[in-house]
Amino acid sequence: MLDGSPRLNLASFVTTWMEPECDKLIMDSINKNYVDMDEYPVTTELQNRCVNMIARLFNAPLGDTETAMGVGTVGSSEAIMLAGLAFKRNWQNKRKAEGKTYDKPNIVTGANVQVCWEKFARYFEVELKEIKLSEGYYVMDPDKAVEMVDENTICVAAILGSTLTGEFEDVKRLNDLLVKKNDATGWNTPIHVDAASGGFIAPFIYPELEWDFRLPLVKSINVSGHKYGLVYAGIGWVVWRTQQNLPDELIFHINYLGADQPTFTLNFSKGISIFQFLVRIDPNYCSVLLAHTSWLRGTGYTNVMENCRENMLVLKEGIEKTERFNIVSKDVGVPLVAFSLKGQSFHSEFEISEMLRRFGWIVPAYTMPADAQHITVLRVVIREDFSRTLAERLVADILKVLHELDTLPSKISRKMGAEDFANVKRKKVKREKLMEVIVGWRKFVKDRKKMNGVC
Ligand SMILES: Cc1ncc(COP(=O)(O)O)c(C=O)c1O
Repeated sequence: MLDGSPRLNLASFVTTWMEPECDKLIMDSINKNYVDMDEYPVTTELQNRCVNMIARLFNAPLGDTETAMGVGTVGSSEAIMLAGLAFKRNWQNKRKAEGKTYDKPNIVTGANVQVCWEKFARYFEVELKEIKLSEGYYVMDPDKAVEMVDENTICVAAILGSTLTGEFEDVKRLNDLLVKKNDATGWNTPIHVDAASGGFIAPFIYPELEWDFRLPLVKSINVSGHKYGLVYAGIGWVVWRTQQNLPDELIFHINYLGADQPTFTLNFSKGISIFQFLVRIDPNYCSVLLAHTSWLRGTGYTNVMENCRENMLVLKEGIEKTERFNIVSKDVGVPLVAFSLKGQSFHSEFEISEMLRRFGWIVPAYTMPADAQHITVLRVVIREDFSRTLAERLVADILKVLHELDTLPSKISRKMGAEDFANVKRKKVKREKLMEVIVGWRKFVKDRKKMNGVC
């Protein structure tokens, strides 16, 4: 499972590929477990092939006959837990060998990281050292990150495609600065790239961008299949630069699947979505395979990603034309549009989000993390099936919502009381006023909702 087969000829696996047949295979296999004994040798083989392809897509330094190191996971969150554990153990082993303390590991990230990094830090007892954001700069600043690195830093995590704005962090600059710091200190601090979304975008439409194993300090990378890998939910991967980057002691060897089976995952069983790479017209297997098929549709990925980018630009221009929003996302990055209301508005992005639901749009509104909490954005992620027509319709619906809001008093002002709100308007500086509006809105939402569980 962990060290996949050498360079492959996937064509030999693909006898026929027809979308409806694949869907049927997926439905037929819905009751199957990835680790089912009958399926085991084939599913493992297929997964190894995926690992090899992905590692090579990310420019791992592998010879033609060398096998890549990696593992299939349920998604990027599991992949990140595994990558983080490997960094922690490597760091501890190094410290032990040097006769130094190893009880205070930390990890350096931007405050914009996805919650799975906070989970990793809390669950696996690693201090999370976050670089704060600022208004207009919503990704990790590599200079500040390198400054924050100390002898207890197990790795710096950079994101290729921030969840909040889609922006790619500058991994090249981070690498170059860290190389210098490592030379000066002898610490050897490595980099992990969280390419949950960007891992299947950058190689196809920004091939010149250096963010992956071309940079010497990048030791592991995760990617989700169910984001821009274009497959159903329940599949992700983590790949390591070389075998040495994954400590052997973390790998378990089991034989109850009929042969020696190395395993390094948090969950043993998996759903059939991992068989999504399925193309082989053998009706018994389903998940790893569908990912294979997508790869195999030649330039399919490049076309899909270019199309997403074009539709993102159509949407962005439409939103700009309303003259009511600032665009917060960048043209280069995950194809999404993140935007904020311009200037001082008596309505909030939350109200726009809520009103768009009436037209069938679910456009989340959220506040930025520290120190940019006073900024609220709306975000539209452009996926394969989001057409130009939909982009135009969304702009038209946003205009309708704005028009309606212009004729209404703000919900927050009603909730807070017109007088209070007028005071807020008069007395507070812009930033404080916005915070008050956000707090008012949060209270408004909380009053209406009962939490039944956690997600
Ligand atoms: C940057 C980033 N990392 C990690 C994750 C977690 O990915 P998954 O849902 O595949 O566990 C996400 C999900 O949104 C993400 O955007």
